Amino acid sequence: MNADINNIVILTGAGISAESGLATFRGPDGLWEGHRVEDVCTPEALARNPVLVHRFYDERRARLAEVAPNPAHQALAALDAAWGGDLLIVTQNVDDLHERAGAQRLLHMHGELQSALCAACGKAEAWTAPLPPASVCTGCGQPRLRPDIVFFGEMPYDMERIDAALCRADLFVSIGTSGAVYPAAGFVQTARHAGARTLELNLDPSAGSAYFEETRLGPASELVPEMVRELLG
Ligand code: APR
Repeated sequence: MNADINNIVILTGAGISAESGLATFRGPDGLWEGHRVEDVCTPEALARNPVLVHRFYDERRARLAEVAPNPAHQALAALDAAWGGDLLIVTQNVDDLHERAGAQRLLHMHGELQSALCAACGKAEAWTAPLPPASVCTGCGQPRLRPDIVFFGEMPYDMERIDAALCRADLFVSIGTSGAVYPAAGFVQTARHAGARTLELNLDPSAGSAYFEETRLGPASELVPEMVRELLG
């Protein structure tokens, strides 16, 4: 598989963290069940009920201490360390499991639980404790810190960097995502137009499976180490 592959882009979603014990969004135990997206993941929800929204992310941030990276995160970190060409892991996840497995060439397009964003000055700062509404920004001193999560209707982070990587990619791999949310769900199209090989690793067929050259169905903890072994030959 890796004869003519130099530049790799890997998109990950909630499915890669499922075997670590973190709930996915649209699965049977989906996070959104019990919470309507509109109530916890939109700018309007934050304005309407900041206590509920901050508490929702405080609970998910606290959960991180109870979980650990699984073999899929570890395999991607090993690929990152060994791969001589370009490699970028674009995660939709807001957990820290890729980092804890050792991944370096990584970005969080939907933000991170362990970061707080100032709605006044735009500064993001590391945050591992509970984040009550009206917490004070260490940059501007305003009581305007919010979860550093990209809500529905907001622009994901690093889109130019992601697009540039996709346009140079020889291989695009999508792991553990339902393909339900754009712009991430459209990355496979950009990669195909750039002539990249496209591979999907997922427990179930996704909304975008038809766009992939190859789809492998199964748990990420098995499929990702297998793919990395193939790539590292
Ligand atoms: N191994 C591989 N894939 C898995 C596993 C597993 N063990 N368990 C579940 N999956 C797959 C499911 O089949 C599903 O297709 O992971 C996918 C999870 O889909 P979603 O719950 O929709 O999560 P995701 O695709 O990451 O959601 C994208 O939507 O709600 C927003 O911002 C949120 O980043 C999130 C975005």
